Amino acid sequence: MKIIISESREEFNGTAADIVRRQIHDKPDSVLGLATGSTPLGLYNLLVCMGIKGDLDFSRIKTFNLDEYKGLSRDHPQSYYHYMYENLFSKINIRDENVNILNGEKADSYRECAEYEKRIKASGGIDLQVLGIGHNGHIGFNEPGTPFDSITDLIDLTDRTIEANSRFFDSPHQVPRQALSMGIKTIMQARNIILLITGGAKARIAAKALRGSITPDVPASVLQLHPFVTVILDKESAAYL
Ligand code: F6R
Repeated sequence: MKIIISESREEFNGTAADIVRRQIHDKPDSVLGLATGSTPLGLYNLLVCMGIKGDLDFSRIKTFNLDEYKGLSRDHPQSYYHYMYENLFSKINIRDENVNILNGEKADSYRECAEYEKRIKASGGIDLQVLGIGHNGHIGFNEPGTPFDSITDLIDLTDRTIEANSRFFDSPHQVPRQALSMGIKTIMQARNIILLITGGAKARIAAKALRGSITPDVPASVLQLHPFVTVILDKESAAYL
């Protein structure tokens, strides 16, 4: 596990963007796994800038997003589908048919999840997975206690995650109680992973995940077992490392 502690937000985003840029440069038809949330927004901004300047061509890449809320329509402002188009896909030259996001509106979520797993495999697997981490150590929506061999599935969100995500909704009651998420095994099958962590509020969980024991109680701790993980932190989140 390679750990990079950034001195500034610019350096943090630049380091992450450089890894993605190199991946696409080396393999123009790369398969990327992508996260939503606040942490990767700066990275996505930089990728948009690189695309506009003509420094990066997204026309052959494929993407698979980590997760999506159950029951939100794709045009709901808080759906992850909406987030990805708003912050990245509508601003780069990716092809719509190469974008894969779990559909939270499908009546049979289990089937949707099984088909997603098949699609990832059929694409040749994920070359580079971008991850954030929840305050409880979740990756994707894999909450504490999720077995390490889990694959893409319908997940019950914990009260803590619902509360954390309620900042984006008018009230906690509007936050969906379930989500579809890639499993821990699915994430671990990615050939390379970058984990992005910012903010003092994540300092304790960052130390637990990166230096503590490897346990399903801290889902992100599984990343210690992956051979090619780069963790990029800011100074605040690295306080207890
Ligand atoms: C998002 C995802 C989540 C987030 C995590 C951190 O697709 O899978 O695991 O990465 O909740 O979210 P932020 O970056 O908003 O703190």
